Amino acid sequence: MTTQIAPSLLSADFANLERDIRVVEKGGADLLHLDVMDGHYVPNISFGIPVVKSIRPCTRLKFDTHLMLARPWEFVEPFKAAGSDSITVHAEVCEDPGAVLRQIRSLDMECGLCINPSTPVEVLFPHLEELDLALIMSVEPGFGGQSFQPDVLPKVETLALQCLDRGLSVPIQIDGGVTPDNAAACRRAGATILVAGSAVFGAADRAAAISAIRGADTIA
Ligand code: DX5
Ligand code: ZN
Repeated sequence: MTTQIAPSLLSADFANLERDIRVVEKGGADLLHLDVMDGHYVPNISFGIPVVKSIRPCTRLKFDTHLMLARPWEFVEPFKAAGSDSITVHAEVCEDPGAVLRQIRSLDMECGLCINPSTPVEVLFPHLEELDLALIMSVEPGFGGQSFQPDVLPKVETLALQCLDRGLSVPIQIDGGVTPDNAAACRRAGATILVAGSAVFGAADRAAAISAIRGADTIA
């Protein structure tokens, strides 16, 4: 599986979203990662449905929507209407993750399931067959710019092995504190979608940052 880079809009200049989105699209981004926070599940609020709708005409990039919400199932339809292409929900808040994943799929979106650094990776196992992506957080969700937690990498390895054992090719996404310095370790562990906010939008040359995170081994 080739590595995909998903810049997180959370670290963009909110007064210039269109400009920043175009820069990362031109700079080689594969997806645009949208971090939606509700101030309940996580102790922070970011942006929501109207912003997603407003930026939809600015780009062809797929909208990879990471819902850090206490009740994500209530917002699946509005995000679809706003232009989301995939929706990822936290396993920690879903009593029946399978039902939420099917709800997302039923609206022709890709579905993802996410776990926090302290959540065991085995929580994802019953759902692997129905997942379009599995997201392993490498920071506590809620804020950009935190330090990468390398102790989540064994969970990525375990998940990659589990997928291999079952003959599945579920993309494994890693999110939080990803930089050019730790990206190789993420890729080696088996992550195939690397989310990066501050390492991309905080860089003077965003295209160079995207290439550096993607890694020399995947540049054609
Ligand atoms: C954290 C978000 C991440 C984060 C990524 O709650 O899910 O997507 O903003 O930003 P960096 O790369 O700055 O950690
Ligand atoms: Zn995220």
